[in-house]
Amino acid sequence: MRILGIETSCDETAAAVIEANKHSPNVNLLSNIVASSLVLHSKTGGIIPETAAREQIKYIIPVIEKALADSQSSPSSLDAIAVTVGPGLIGSLLVGIETAKTLAYVWNKPIVPVNHLIGHIYANWIMENGNWKMANILFPAVALIVSGGHTDLVLMRDHGDLKWLGGTRDDAAGEALDKIGRLLGLSYPAGPTIEKLAKEGNSKKFNFPRPMIDSNNFDFSFSGLKTSVSRHVILRQKAEGSDIVNIAAGVQQSIIDVLVKKTLNATLQYNAKSILLGGGVSANEKLRAQLIQNTKYLIPDTEIFFPKKFLCTDNGAMIASAAFFNYKEVPFQQITADPELYFN
Ligand code: KG4
Ligand code: ZN
Repeated sequence: MRILGIETSCDETAAAVIEANKHSPNVNLLSNIVASSLVLHSKTGGIIPETAAREQIKYIIPVIEKALADSQSSPSSLDAIAVTVGPGLIGSLLVGIETAKTLAYVWNKPIVPVNHLIGHIYANWIMENGNWKMANILFPAVALIVSGGHTDLVLMRDHGDLKWLGGTRDDAAGEALDKIGRLLGLSYPAGPTIEKLAKEGNSKKFNFPRPMIDSNNFDFSFSGLKTSVSRHVILRQKAEGSDIVNIAAGVQQSIIDVLVKKTLNATLQYNAKSILLGGGVSANEKLRAQLIQNTKYLIPDTEIFFPKKFLCTDNGAMIASAAFFNYKEVPFQQITADPELYFN
């Protein structure tokens, strides 16, 4: 089965082609194109939805054409089109959805709607030309989705059998990093820069809070961290030189400590055999290392999976992968954008 995946829920315009068959535990990545309007957003310090959608209208057709060309796929070689229907920015979602619906009609192909958050989890099943390690993911699995818009813990008993365990009550982990980055004068998105700065800093210099780390649930709260950092920055007038690196290290460590503790709590409580990470923040090396180390120590039989780094952030391949494992065609007339879509 060859699937074209289209993703436009936030600021990326992405399309990819994957191939899969029911005898393989993985899907094979044939092409992956991502156009980002990040440069525009770094000028404004964040995403302006109207700007993102206008850029996506410009990119969507060339991006799909390139994804087809790179995978040597003709429209007739495709078996289905998968598209993100939510959650996300309404204008951005509509660009991908209306394009997918039009192509499905013109090419006479089935269309599979995909939840963006579930897509992030399915980045773990993708390999490229058989080159990457086969991910033989065993259930039950606990998935941690950590992105700019979401922080969620999900129990996966099987494909299509998901239970939401908890999520952030305010800012997502990536959102907290981006907003704190703004306070520190870093450009958007700040997550990767904070990771770099943190390598030079001392995470113990500032004792930032670890919100809800001991709460008896799987919820998170990261907005208080922002207040804590803004106090440090304001009190010191301006964070300069070594202080920026120490603040970066402290903030990153605080977020990682909470994410790792709650993920391990969920894994223990549900006897999960696998831990799956997904979303932009899961590209963070420190998060990966600390999760691996603590899991080895506490629950050595549990296997941890991370997507390839370029598949942690938004892409069309994860949408096509989710569609393959949860294949459900929907008549194109019934497909609509759902900006508030969540877990059922
Ligand atoms: O998954 P994603 O591309 O978009 C959403 O669906 O939200 O995630 C983007 C988020 C941003 O907040 C960005 O700062 C964060 O992921 N991010 C990182 C890293 N790379 C991206 N955060 C920490 N460390 C990184 N290496
Ligand atoms: Zn995302």
